[in-house]
Amino acid sequence: MTEADLVVDDASQVVTCEPSLGEGPLGIIETGAVAARGERIVWVGPASRLAGEVTLASGGSRLDAHGRVVVPGFVDSHTHLVFAGSRENEYGLRALGASYQEIAAAGGGILSTVRATRAASLDELVARARPRLDLMLAHGTTTCEAKSGYGLTTADEIKMLEAIRRLDAEHAVDVHPNFCGAHELPPEFKGRTDAYVDLVVEEMLPEVARRGLARYVDVFCEEGVFSIAQSRRILEAGGRHGLRAKFHADEFVTLGGAELAAEVRALSADHLLKARIEGIARMKAAGVTAALLPGTAFFLGLPYAPARKFLDTGARVALASDFNPGSSMGLNLQLVMTMAVSQMKMSLEEALLGITVNAAHAMGLEGEVGSLRPGKLCDLLLADVSGWQHLAYFYGVNHVTRIVKRGRPV
Ligand code: NIG
Ligand code: FE
Repeated sequence: MTEADLVVDDASQVVTCEPSLGEGPLGIIETGAVAARGERIVWVGPASRLAGEVTLASGGSRLDAHGRVVVPGFVDSHTHLVFAGSRENEYGLRALGASYQEIAAAGGGILSTVRATRAASLDELVARARPRLDLMLAHGTTTCEAKSGYGLTTADEIKMLEAIRRLDAEHAVDVHPNFCGAHELPPEFKGRTDAYVDLVVEEMLPEVARRGLARYVDVFCEEGVFSIAQSRRILEAGGRHGLRAKFHADEFVTLGGAELAAEVRALSADHLLKARIEGIARMKAAGVTAALLPGTAFFLGLPYAPARKFLDTGARVALASDFNPGSSMGLNLQLVMTMAVSQMKMSLEEALLGITVNAAHAMGLEGEVGSLRPGKLCDLLLADVSGWQHLAYFYGVNHVTRIVKRGRPV
């Protein structure tokens, strides 16, 4: 007998995202149940076997799913959760024809958020991000990555990372920090990109690492921002401080970011709208996850990443929101699934794996989250749908009615 202190029972389907535990690529168990002890899953199986295999410890609780569908908590592997200000004006300008890069070149874009973020206190950054995190959780996200990158001075980057640390500590959602000091060139370094890279490598990274404020290192590797050589320098320096690379690659221009990701053995390369298939094949060989962000293409009105071609190489494809005030002001991963299916021709199964197991890989957390198997954290959601496909098919609404995070209903 397995002892549990939480049992989730009477689910019409448990979508484990572990093929070995059920039917098909999603490992579906019809009329299933899940049991947890403390923070972790201890048992998953058909409800008919529950009574014979699991006992509820005294003081334990039973959560009746009432025929709803149980799915792993979603994992959002690319977000810019923390920022001050907002940029709805740019959104309107883009609709009238201005491009993201034109707006950035005119001092808008990331730099307008940098001005607001520098002016904000740590408390203010936390207060602004908290309701966003509440919304993420309400839409099913139980783990996310969050980047710095709107400070661009050592003190302001640390302020952002401190805000992320506080949010992680106080909120049910687990928030994993990515240091993105090389998100944009700050105005005071105009024309001196290498000098700014020196600052990132010689001052910011050591200080961030010394304080234990980041798990990953990011760079906006893009024409007119940070070159391949500059990005390599930053990612390799991050690696020497124990930070895994997860970075913006080949978003607007084909620079070779995908190839660089393979070279530095990144956890993920993200965006990849303009990546070469050859680069994707190299990523696959090096075990790098391709994180696609269809919300950004949608919001900017750009063509989507060629996901099918990537999948044909055998590469692992994750999907994330890229939640940020400029290029993707959205955090609903159910809607991201819909975009992946309708616009990138991913299968419904590939889309769900993209926001669960594959997203966990993109964060190096595949042993912890992203699927429902004994040993992983008990992070799951109940969706009020007749079948899991409705998460994407019936789009633009929130189907999540209940969340369990680390074994506790929240
Ligand atoms: O699309 N790093 C580049 N751009 C970010 C958005 C940042 C912004 O516009 O504020 C991205 O991932
Ligand atoms: Fe981004």
